[in-house]
Amino acid sequence: MALVNENYLKLKAGYLFPEIGRRVKGFSAAHPEARVLRLGIGDVTRPLVPAVLEAFHAGVDDLASAASFRGYGPERGYEFLTGILAEKAYAPLGVTLKPEEIFVSDGSKCDCANILDIFGLGNRVAICDPVYPVYIDTNVMVGRTGPVDAKGHYAGVVYLPCTAENDFTPALPDQPVDLIYLCYPNNPTGTVASLEQLKLWVDYALAQGAVLLFDAAYEAFITDPAIPRSIYQVEGAERCAIEFRSFSKTAGFTGVRCGLTVVPEALQARTAAGEMVSLNALWSRRQSTKFNGVSYPVQRAAAAVYSDAGWAQVKEIIDYYMGNARIIREGLGAAGITCYGGVNAPYIWLKTPQGMSSWEFFDRLLEECHVVGTPGSGFGPSGEGYFRLSAFGERENVEAAVQRIREKWGQ
Ligand code: MLT
Repeated sequence: MALVNENYLKLKAGYLFPEIGRRVKGFSAAHPEARVLRLGIGDVTRPLVPAVLEAFHAGVDDLASAASFRGYGPERGYEFLTGILAEKAYAPLGVTLKPEEIFVSDGSKCDCANILDIFGLGNRVAICDPVYPVYIDTNVMVGRTGPVDAKGHYAGVVYLPCTAENDFTPALPDQPVDLIYLCYPNNPTGTVASLEQLKLWVDYALAQGAVLLFDAAYEAFITDPAIPRSIYQVEGAERCAIEFRSFSKTAGFTGVRCGLTVVPEALQARTAAGEMVSLNALWSRRQSTKFNGVSYPVQRAAAAVYSDAGWAQVKEIIDYYMGNARIIREGLGAAGITCYGGVNAPYIWLKTPQGMSSWEFFDRLLEECHVVGTPGSGFGPSGEGYFRLSAFGERENVEAAVQRIREKWGQ
C-alpha cells in the first residue's frame, strides 16, 4: 500500500483562498439575485495593455513558421527577458545583476514554494504572523514543522508577530534562525519597509549566515520614492538574499503566469560538513531538472512590460488600482473604521468593527453587504480581529463595496 506524505495531514483546513471561494459559491447559489462584490483574493481585473498584447501575439506568430519557431527554451528564461529585467527593472535602482542571476518562472508563488528544494530540512525558519500562507504551508508540507497548536502556530517555526503595536513591523528573531521570509510591500498588511529597516535584516542575516527569502511581488505598487523596491538596494544583500518578483499584479499576468527569482552568484550556504555551496548553482540545477521554462510568447509579452510604451501603459493600470486603494482607505477611514496599508501597497488591512472575529466579519460582510474580503486570521493567529480588502477590481465595484460597508458599519 502506498504511503502518503503525512506532513500534509498537519495542515490546517484547506488553502485560504479556495476556502473563501467555496463559501462565496455557496452564498451565491443560495442567493442568485445578489450582486457579490469581490475584494478578497488579490486578482487583477484590468485587461493586458496593448504593448504587451502586441508582443504576445507576435510571439505566437513566431511559432507559426519554421524560421522563427522555438521549442524548449532556456530553463532560466530567454536572454531577451533576463537582459531587459537587469537593465530596466534593477539597474535604475542602482542594482547590478547579471542575466544569469535572474531565473524566469511561471510565478512567484511557485518559486516561494519550490525554493525549499535547495535548503536542508534542518534549517530553522522565521516567518511573520500574519503572512502569505504559502510560506508556512510549504514548510509544513516538506516536513520542517511539527503539529499545529490550538492557537494556530506550527511547532518548530519561529513566528515574528506583526501587530498594530509594532506597526506591523517584525522584530529581529530572539533565537538563531537560518531562513527568514520577508514580504515588502507586505501581503496582507500593506506595510512597507524603509532602507534602514531592511538593512537591519541584511546585517542580521550576514552575521547569522542566514538567508532572506524576500518576496517583492508588490514592488510596483510603491508610490513613495524613498521606499526600496528591491532587497538588493541594501549593501551586502547579494550575499544573503533571494528575491522573488512577479508579473501577476504588476502587469495583469495572474492568468498568463510569469515571475522571476533572483539568486545572486555571491550567495552561498553551507553543507553540514562546512563546505560552502553556491545557491545560484543549486537553483539552476533544480530548475533545469524540474522545470522546462515559461512559454516563449509569454516571455515576449513579459519583456514588453519593460518597453517604454509597455511600462507607461502598465503604470496607468497600477495607478488605477492604487486609486481604488485610496478610495477604500479614505472611505472606510472617514467612516471610523481603522485602516492600515493601501498607500504603497494594493491591500488595506482593517480592524474588524465591533470587535468581531475575522471570520464572523467575513460571514456578515458577505451575507449583509454581499462583499467578499479575506479574514485576517486566515493569514495567521496574529491576524485575528483584522480583515484584508484588495484594491484589485473595477472602480464601480470598489466604490459600491465601500458604500455598502459604510452604510452598515460606519459611525
Ligand atoms: C492574495 O490575494 O494574497 C494573492 O492573490 C494570492 C497569490 O498571489 O497567490
